[in-house]
Amino acid sequence: GLDKARAYDLVFPQGGKYSKIAGLAGKEQTVSLMGLVPFTFPFLDARSAKAKHGSLKYRRHTLYLRHGLAETNDKDAQLAALKATADAMSAPCKGFLASDESAGPWLRAGHVEAAKIPDTAENRAAYRSMLYTTPGLSEYISGVILHWETLFQKDANGDQMVDLITKNGMLAGIKLDKGYDKTGIMGTATGPLGHPETWCKGIDDLDKRCAEAYAKGARFAKWRNVLQIDPDQGIPSDLAIEVAVQNLAQYASICQRNKLCPIVEPEIVPNGSHSIEVCAAVTEKVLVAQFKALALHNIYLEGAVLKPNMVKNGLTGPKAPPETVAMLTVQTLRRTVPAAMPGIFFLSGETALDEDNEETATINLNAMHALKAMGKPWHVSFSYGKALQKTCIVTWMGKEANNPAAQAALLARCKANSEATYGKYVAGSCASVGSKGNVEMQGGAY
Ligand code: 13P
Repeated sequence: GLDKARAYDLVFPQGGKYSKIAGLAGKEQTVSLMGLVPFTFPFLDARSAKAKHGSLKYRRHTLYLRHGLAETNDKDAQLAALKATADAMSAPCKGFLASDESAGPWLRAGHVEAAKIPDTAENRAAYRSMLYTTPGLSEYISGVILHWETLFQKDANGDQMVDLITKNGMLAGIKLDKGYDKTGIMGTATGPLGHPETWCKGIDDLDKRCAEAYAKGARFAKWRNVLQIDPDQGIPSDLAIEVAVQNLAQYASICQRNKLCPIVEPEIVPNGSHSIEVCAAVTEKVLVAQFKALALHNIYLEGAVLKPNMVKNGLTGPKAPPETVAMLTVQTLRRTVPAAMPGIFFLSGETALDEDNEETATINLNAMHALKAMGKPWHVSFSYGKALQKTCIVTWMGKEANNPAAQAALLARCKANSEATYGKYVAGSCASVGSKGNVEMQGGAY
């Protein structure tokens, strides 16, 4: 009665010895396995040892069962497993917690007080373990994106961070791009970020890193490429778009080969003074190119998800209201994203310093779902970093005593965005630190 496309939790009791776990299990462990099929094995009685116990003669049998079930290499089962992961990620009313900042999340949050928290590995572990153990978080969050450091990190109690996530009912994902060199592509113009057009590093050893991440418990991955807008200089150039989408498609293919569901993130940053119409045209062009590249690389769309920017005006451009953001974003996605892909999860992105970035991100998502007349064949949701965490970080401020209050702040913002996926968020109903302490975000590459 096993369903190959379902994940099963196998419980290994304390003291058991299994090939996937070195030595005896020190404590009870649960491992989630996908693509299981029953198998039988031959029993060779002739080779078993004879033993005597008192006057009783008997045969001693030592049986090593892997776990009574085997993973299959069947191609169909692998695709079914990828689809099951993508569907679980795209569960109704849920989104992702982007927790993969390379520097401390408090540097990326863009808040004057938050930036004072010392950026040490201990602090990152303390803060992130607090996030992942938030009671009830899986009601609104299906997947958590991790930095490589966190994938191999333990909390102060010695528990693996990945286990904190899976035990709290969420899937763990891994950020796999290695950022970009600002030197960029030869001959391209310097854009509003102050450097030429770029692509991301990390393809060379990606196969190995995917396998390691899967073995450690990750089931999905993220790769972000950055494109800039400056119409006066003709960017993004056709060259930068082509390099970016091919790079992402290659990453997606290596992920799928390694059973990781890829999040494909061609981010067009909002820096610049362009209008929202320019952003709409560029986003449409990039997404058309992206799905052409995914098709060329034989990507299984049912087992992958998209993480795009919303269609917005440039940071210093003429301001477009949430209704226009929503209309142009949904229009662009309807023109470009095949219905075969189960989910679309927005990044929150840079916002102007006088804006409450958390509230803005929730309101924009809500406005898309309030547009009932424009059908959305995918799950349309959030994959926010700073827009889920800013108030939470300012509440936490590096003090364990603040954990419960910080968890409450995170949960409240996740709930608000969950309501937004139904178009039911009431603006202002979720408390936030607002825009008062806003400063330029630090922290370099994502
Ligand atoms: P934001 O902090 O802009 O939401 O970005 C999240 C992310 O994961 C970008 O790759």
